[in-house]
Amino acid sequence: MKTRFSIVCSSLLLLVSVAHAQQPASAPIVIKFSHVVAADTPKGKAAELFKKLAEERTKGRVKVDVFANSVLYKDKEEIEALQMGAVQMLAPSTSKFGPMGVAAFEVFDLPFIFADRDVQQYVVNGPVGVKLFKLLESKNIRGLAYWDNGFKQMSANKPLHMPADMKGLKMRIKSSKVLDEQMRSVGAMPQVLAFSEVYQALQTGVIDGTENSLPNFYTQKFYEVQKHMTISNHGYGAYAVIVNKKFWDGLPADIRTILEKAMQEASKYENDLSKEEEDEMVSLIKASGKIDIYTLTKAESAAWRTAMMPVHKSMEKRIGVEWIEAINKEAASMKRK
Ligand code: LMR
Repeated sequence: MKTRFSIVCSSLLLLVSVAHAQQPASAPIVIKFSHVVAADTPKGKAAELFKKLAEERTKGRVKVDVFANSVLYKDKEEIEALQMGAVQMLAPSTSKFGPMGVAAFEVFDLPFIFADRDVQQYVVNGPVGVKLFKLLESKNIRGLAYWDNGFKQMSANKPLHMPADMKGLKMRIKSSKVLDEQMRSVGAMPQVLAFSEVYQALQTGVIDGTENSLPNFYTQKFYEVQKHMTISNHGYGAYAVIVNKKFWDGLPADIRTILEKAMQEASKYENDLSKEEEDEMVSLIKASGKIDIYTLTKAESAAWRTAMMPVHKSMEKRIGVEWIEAINKEAASMKRK
């Protein structure tokens, strides 16, 4: 015979299961993915591809909200937001890890650190890249992939052919001691500014010039407010796609696997696109008719290199000489196809 207690229990169970059956499918896991560049840059497009792949392949269990163009965060505060879990994914320039105490990443800011893109891809995707990412783990950050921002070019309102042309110019840099030193090595005065503030600062003359990648020059329309650009390829721009470690580790394993695969594909797309679009970016900037584009001759490029290379030595202590040596060793071991 059923006791009063067992009747109450079974009615409760029935109620719970009815309520459960009526519940909508559980809410998706939301990944807020914030970045500071335009949606039509390689980074912006790859972020969208990641979103598409992640949402399709998890069949809606994951929703990725991409916030481009600094709409959420302007500058390095995005890293704090990630650490606190206000956003889950970012793709900042690796220079942003220096000010948060991981100066080893500033190795990528060293002028002429990579001879070309093949070397750069080989190094960041090898053991050096993996070891650098390990340095972020204690900061509740997991590095998922390196994305390419391409080589940096210089611009100003005067022609820049030789390092001496930089003398006295107020040049915008990201907040990086290495970039600061790089600009000083050619007699310029570095000015740290958030990316979203560069256009206006150039327009109003707060700064005289800037360095950046071709996609950023084009999509931010820096060519409207600069008269001269030099294809100097004097430095390289690396991005790191990073996630909040606690969040990432807490994901169901099957979801994490799908997202990792989606990230691999988005990363290949980003790196390929960044390389492919380079010449097109030069043509588009030229087509604006607003800026003169000059390509350094071999001899001029050698002069920039001679002027800037002492930065490798003077920044050894800050970065850690082992990182510079590791990159040089890796680069030397690369077999050309
Ligand atoms: C910058 O100049 O701040 C850029 O590196 C920003 C970006 O993410 O490309």
